Amino acid sequence: MSDFAEIILDGKTYQMPIVVGTEDEKAIDISALRAQSGYVTLDPGYKNTGATTSAITFLDGEEGILRYRGYPIEQLAEKSSFIEVAYLLIYGHLPSEEELNAFSDRIKRHTLVNEDMRKILDGFPSTAHPMGILSALVSSLTAFYPESLNPNQSKEEVDLSIIRLLAKISTIAAWSYKNSQGHPVIYPKNKLDYCSNFLNMMFAYPTEDYQIDPVVVSALNKLLILHADHEQNCSTSTVRLVGSANASLYSSVSAGISALWGPLHGGANQAVIEMLEEIKADGGDSKKFIEKAKDKNDPFRLMGFGHRVYKNFDPRAKIIKKAADEVLTALGVKDPILNIAKELEEAALNDPYFVERKLYPNVDFYSGIIYRAIGIPTNMFTVMFALGRLPGWIAQWKELREQKEPIGRPRQIYTGETERDYVPMEKR
Ligand code: CMC
Repeated sequence: MSDFAEIILDGKTYQMPIVVGTEDEKAIDISALRAQSGYVTLDPGYKNTGATTSAITFLDGEEGILRYRGYPIEQLAEKSSFIEVAYLLIYGHLPSEEELNAFSDRIKRHTLVNEDMRKILDGFPSTAHPMGILSALVSSLTAFYPESLNPNQSKEEVDLSIIRLLAKISTIAAWSYKNSQGHPVIYPKNKLDYCSNFLNMMFAYPTEDYQIDPVVVSALNKLLILHADHEQNCSTSTVRLVGSANASLYSSVSAGISALWGPLHGGANQAVIEMLEEIKADGGDSKKFIEKAKDKNDPFRLMGFGHRVYKNFDPRAKIIKKAADEVLTALGVKDPILNIAKELEEAALNDPYFVERKLYPNVDFYSGIIYRAIGIPTNMFTVMFALGRLPGWIAQWKELREQKEPIGRPRQIYTGETERDYVPMEKR
């Protein structure tokens, strides 16, 4: 294989270096192309643009492979815990028992949020979407820890910011839900593990304890692990882009939360359940909705179907589909929308429109069904995605800093008016 690619422009040949990753992924490094030739590359939606080199997550959309730091997602979902996976993503290796205990204890010690945060929370109406609250409160951590704004923080200071964010996000997330209910918040209990503590803050009341069910804790661990990183997707690229301006960890992650909120990204898990409910309310005819999704004059899309990179199957969807069956059976939940989901999946997988376009169920198609079964309300689904994705965002932000990447600043091809003179109001 040659070490460079040749690009011929206006009869002149330019040599651009080839970059090869550890999994033999190949790229043409065109960073010098504009300076040498005046040309930029155009790639709306970054469908074919590598924005960085990264050692965190490998995914192969054609083969349905997803690995964090080299470890297959199937093994991590089966054998690991969310906190262990967070450590792996952020620090690059599986922790020893001692490292894991120290990491987990530190997170437990920082779960409390400043009481003044409650005052900010109180200012939100109960109609506020929990994702908006989450993004605002994560950004407001900069006010409580202004030292996090310093781009030259030491390694120890960065570590403390990371621990604080991992610890406080579950308190903030659970409190955003309590706020939407108009209920008093529940304080963290540090004797509990990460997932149990979150569930307790969500479902306990000052008047009533919450019984922690190991089936629910295990399902939550699995879901969070499956969402923990996914290389350069929309929210992660947002985190890296904001972070590249030397913005703090909290501001960068807050921006990532806003990106994740969109229904084409993390918001899809909420949209899937709303779609399944709509189909049920309409009489349960999944074929009718398949036809709607295929109709180019109808804005309806089959939510939970299709993926920018997975074109064969989404390995997370495989794990989640099996987990959904297990959790619903263990909890004795009979959810009619699970049947609609299965009918829809079967109909779509046999329909040439979906087959030709390689549209398969993605991670969000079944995650909402598990969240529903374990009692998470629909408007909290995307918040759950954010909780899961947090270690990935942190790892990517940290990597960007350590690689000393330049500020992100794409180019464009201008298509507007050429120069023209200002026209006074009376002559328009
Ligand atoms: N229902 C119906 N048609 C679809 C769908 C769908 N869900 N997804 C894609 N298509 C069609 C699309 O209309 C286009 O058809 P044509 O070639 O005839 O114009 C073709 O398939 C390619 O679609 P695209 O929009 O160019 O593909 P993309 O890679 O830009 O978009 C996607 C990927 C995930 C945004 C899209 O598939 C989609 O909108 N899916 C539904 C939303 C969803 O489930 N999002 C969650 C993604 S997984 C969680 C995450 O990681 O964020």
